[in-house]
Amino acid sequence: MRIAVFGATGYGGIETLKLLVHRKDVEVVWIGSDKQEGKKLVDVIPMFRNTRFASLGFSSQQGELPDVDFALLATPHGFARSIVPTLLEHRVRIIDFSGDYRLPDEVYEKWYNKAVTGNSNNWNAVYGLPELNREAIKEAKLIANPGCYATTANLALMPAVEMDLVDVEHLVVDAKSGVSGAGRNPHLTTHFVEVSESYKAYKVGSHQHTPEIEQTLWEARRRRNGSLEQQEQVRILLTTQLLPIKRGIYVTAYGHLKKSMSVSEVFEIYQERYANEPFVTVLPPGEVPEIRQISGTNQCHLSVHVDDRTETLLVMATLDNLLKGAAGQAIQNLNLMSGTEEATGLSGMAWW
Ligand SMILES: NC(=O)c1ccc[n+]([C@@H]2O[C@H](COP(=O)([O-])OP(=O)(O)OC[C@H]3O[C@@H](n4cnc5c(N)ncnc54)[C@H](OP(=O)(O)O)[C@@H]3O)[C@@H](O)[C@H]2O)c1
Repeated sequence: MRIAVFGATGYGGIETLKLLVHRKDVEVVWIGSDKQEGKKLVDVIPMFRNTRFASLGFSSQQGELPDVDFALLATPHGFARSIVPTLLEHRVRIIDFSGDYRLPDEVYEKWYNKAVTGNSNNWNAVYGLPELNREAIKEAKLIANPGCYATTANLALMPAVEMDLVDVEHLVVDAKSGVSGAGRNPHLTTHFVEVSESYKAYKVGSHQHTPEIEQTLWEARRRRNGSLEQQEQVRILLTTQLLPIKRGIYVTAYGHLKKSMSVSEVFEIYQERYANEPFVTVLPPGEVPEIRQISGTNQCHLSVHVDDRTETLLVMATLDNLLKGAAGQAIQNLNLMSGTEEATGLSGMAWW
C-alpha cells in the first residue's frame, strides 16, 4: 500500500515513520512539511540515515496531492478539515490524528475554540478506537484517531460504564501527560526550564478531550444496553496535568460504585472485556501500572481497585501518548483498514 504522511516533522509524524520503516508491505511515497519543504528527511531527522526512507524528501502540504491509498494526517487541529474533502474525492483513505472529526460541529467549535467553515459534513468519520469500533474501522474511509488522554480514560472506564458498575454522571478522571503531548513546537509553558523539577495542572475544567471521553463512554454504554434515553448523560470531570517527563500518560479514574463489589469481581469483568485485545493488559489485583513499562510500546496497562470505605472504584491506566495515544493507534487502524493482521509492526518492547 502507498502511504503519505502529513506533518512528518512532528512527534506524531516521526513515530509513524519509525513504525513503518521496516514494513515491507508499506511504501511511504510522500512526506509533508511546509517548513522543511525541499529538504531531505535524513537532513532534518538523522535517525533515518541508512534506512529505506533515506531518500525521501519533504513536500509542501499546500501543493499537489500525492497519489496514494492512505494519508496519515499528523497535523494540528484545523488542517484536516481543509484537505479531507479533496483526499476523499481522490479515493484516498484517511487517518486524522487531530480532533477535527471526533466531535459534532457545535461541540468541536465550543471545546476547540475554532469555527467550522466550509462543508461541515463529518464525512461519516469513524472514531478510531479499535476496542470499541473494530468492525467499522475496517470499512472506514476516514478515521478520527482518538486523543491520547481520551484513549487512556476510555480504556480505563469503558468496562465499568458498559456494565453499569458506577454512577456515570459523576466520574472523575485525574490525568497526567509527558511533555511530548504538547507537540514539538517550542512554547514557553513546555520548554525544559519551565517544566523540569516542577509539576502543574493546566486547562482545568476546559480540556478538549472532555466531550470526546463523554461521547465515547455514552456510545459504549448505549451499545451494551440497547437504546438509551438521550437525557441519560455520562459526565466526567477531567483534570489534566503536565509531568516533567518526555512521554507517557497516567490516568487515575474514580467512579462511585452503584453496589458493593469486591476487587476480584471488578477484575474479572475487566479481564473478560479485554481478553482478546492485543494492546490492553489488565494487571493482577494489587499491582499498579507504571509508565516505564509501556513507554515506547503500543500497550495500555491498567489496574482496578475498590475502596470499600468510600465505595469507590479506582482504575489506573497508562499508555505512551505518541504510540497507543497517537501513531501506534493510527497504525493499528491502518492495519485493520488494509486487512493486515492488527498487531503488525506494533510489537516493540518498553524502553528502560
Ligand atoms: N503529541 C501527542 O502526544 C499527540 C497525541 C495524540 C494526538 N496528537 C495530535 O496529533 C497531531 C500532531 O501532533 P504532534 O504532537 O505530532 O505535533 P507537532 O510535533 O507540533 O507536529 C506538527 C506537524 O504538523 C505540521 N504543521 C504545523 N502547522 C501546520 C499547519 N498549520 N498546517 C499543516 N501542517 C502543520 C508541522 O510541520 P512543519 O515542519 O511545517 O512545522 C509538523 O510536522 C495534532 O493534531 C495532535 O493534537 C498528538
